[in-house]
Amino acid sequence: VDSMSVKPSGAGKVSQLNAVILGEALASEAHDLVFPSRDFSSQALVSSPEKYEEMYKRSVEDPAGFWSDIASDFYWKEKWSQPVCSENLDVRNGNIKIEWFKGGRTNICYNCLDRNIESGNGGKVAIYWEGNEPGFDASLTYAQLLDKVCQLANYLKDMGVRKGDAVVIYLPMLMELPIAMLACARIGAVHSVVFAGFSSESLAQRIVDCKPKVVITSNAVKRGPKVISLKDIVDAALVESAKNGISVDACLTYENQSAMKRETTKWQEGRDIWWQDVVPKYPTTCDVEWVDAEDPLFLLYTSGSTGKPKGVLHTTGGYMIYTATTFKYAFDYKPSDVYWCTADCGWITGHSYVTFGPMLNGATVIVFEGAPNYPDSGRCWDIVDKYKVTIFYTAPTLVRSLMRDGDEYVTRYSRKSLRVLGSVGEPINPSAWRWFFNVVGDSRCPISDTWWQTETGGFMITPLPGAWPQKPGSATFPFFGVQPVIVDEKGIEIEGECNGYLCVKSSWPGAFRTLYGDHDRYETTYFKAFPGYYFSGDGCSRDKDGYYWLTGRVDDVINVSGHRIGTAEVESALVSHPKCAEAAVVGVEHEVKGQGIYAFVTLVEGVPYSEELRKSLIMTVRSQIGAFAAPDRIHWAPGLPKTRSGKIMRRILRKIASRQLNELGDTSTLADPNVVDELIKLADS
Ligand code: WTA
Repeated sequence: VDSMSVKPSGAGKVSQLNAVILGEALASEAHDLVFPSRDFSSQALVSSPEKYEEMYKRSVEDPAGFWSDIASDFYWKEKWSQPVCSENLDVRNGNIKIEWFKGGRTNICYNCLDRNIESGNGGKVAIYWEGNEPGFDASLTYAQLLDKVCQLANYLKDMGVRKGDAVVIYLPMLMELPIAMLACARIGAVHSVVFAGFSSESLAQRIVDCKPKVVITSNAVKRGPKVISLKDIVDAALVESAKNGISVDACLTYENQSAMKRETTKWQEGRDIWWQDVVPKYPTTCDVEWVDAEDPLFLLYTSGSTGKPKGVLHTTGGYMIYTATTFKYAFDYKPSDVYWCTADCGWITGHSYVTFGPMLNGATVIVFEGAPNYPDSGRCWDIVDKYKVTIFYTAPTLVRSLMRDGDEYVTRYSRKSLRVLGSVGEPINPSAWRWFFNVVGDSRCPISDTWWQTETGGFMITPLPGAWPQKPGSATFPFFGVQPVIVDEKGIEIEGECNGYLCVKSSWPGAFRTLYGDHDRYETTYFKAFPGYYFSGDGCSRDKDGYYWLTGRVDDVINVSGHRIGTAEVESALVSHPKCAEAAVVGVEHEVKGQGIYAFVTLVEGVPYSEELRKSLIMTVRSQIGAFAAPDRIHWAPGLPKTRSGKIMRRILRKIASRQLNELGDTSTLADPNVVDELIKLADS
């Protein structure tokens, strides 16, 4: 590796820019750079740009040494023979195969729980659970958590779940959700957590794909003032799966008493079973199933640019080492920290940074069932003060919505326990960054703006909070072992200050290994676009100081409130409506959600537009995907702008959606240029 390309150029020479030191002034528009305070840096794990550069250099020049040293802190039943991927990331040289810590045998549940208990932390709180209603709470120490995990693991084994078998988990943010993930990992089962906001059809699709013996759910959840009957959704999904020949042996249902009593829950004898009736009867010890480093740990579906969600597969050893290490450094983790990540375990952020990463570090984690604005917009800071949260990790969409609600909700609370803030899911705009920094963090707490993806397993580009100054809106520099490159349309790497497509060269331990059941799609989507590199699907620029700035997706994926949604998924839901002939969906800027969903809909010949139909189209999307994917706007379209070969010109639709009508560009290649005028006429109807 040539040393120029590994240098995160710029981290050392930024002092001539406008700068502010944390805790000494507000980060205003005039400040390009926000330095960590001396106090913060002096106690940080990585305390200067020089220290980072030294570690980064070793991580890319001697990855075997770098990762072996870190992995040695974990328990391996058998040590690996080869720590680093002898990678083939170049499709031109054959199939992509990624392996880390080859030959090693371990167990991630053992490393999260037993290992921390053996080192004397059994009495430390692992989870503080905060219910939807203020005043409803509970906690588990590491030792208590292990007992609960073992009981569930024993139940699953009794149900015939074996190493390699899939278990689908459809649970709200109860402690039982991380318990279920850890129990699966303990016995080598592969969990597929489905976010409990997905509809029955989406759940059914995921059940049919991985054919679980057991589905784990809860009868209901309260989100804010609303009760949602999850069991009804699961019942419908199981009926749908049965039609596709997949039936499950058991539906283990946790009675979430504060939301719904068991008496009012619909029940199918023989299949459904109450968690509380069976699981506590099992022994509180359960032997660990030692698995190969490359044995699958979990499946998690995410959206791509076609209609069918992709089953991202992560394996055990590399994912374990990577989530643990990224958590530790990006949040400057100390054993005394109390950590809260607001993400749901149904998304990758909840996998890597509610459950595995923090628990591998023996951290105390908050699991919050409710909504951040219930009973009012001060709820987050109430929780921060209640548990003395030190690290608070959330999404820009939440920051923007709380910002809109006003500072009083924040300043009413002390928040003095906070020391590090984090952001994930979409680019954070500088004004939201500054509000988060100045108001929430009292200009005292660095912000780790972590760029990563379901596919990457863990952070890829992220600040190390004590190491170097931050720029509001930039994810700063690559994590150890990550070599980002920016390429142009032809796939040629661009050096220095530039703008292009974000790719990664060489492999990192947390990388996903395949798309479940479709290795071809894996290679095509991620490795063929720019041969020789992993392609992220994101646009990115690098400034003169070497800082990375993510600019959003460049494919047909949109990012709504930090949730990834494929435009094709929404389109296929819309066209399943009997009155919809054709649909084209694009993302538009949205003040709070980051992006909103804007759908152009052509109705079947002769069907008139109506408000009722608009609602019914939106309902169709809600019931096929989930409420979070509901279009914000339906734009009636007598026709869609297509090329002569029939391809929809989304570029034009994006301009119309964002009302940039004088930037439509060349429309002469359209089969029928008049459709554009028609669309503009209907823009406000
Ligand atoms: C976007 C979430 C800018 C990006 C962890 C990526 C971000 C997609 C950031 C992955 C960030 C995530 N700055 N953009 N800090 N973090 N993204 O798979 O477009 O749900 O490709 O993983 O979110 O979304 P996913």
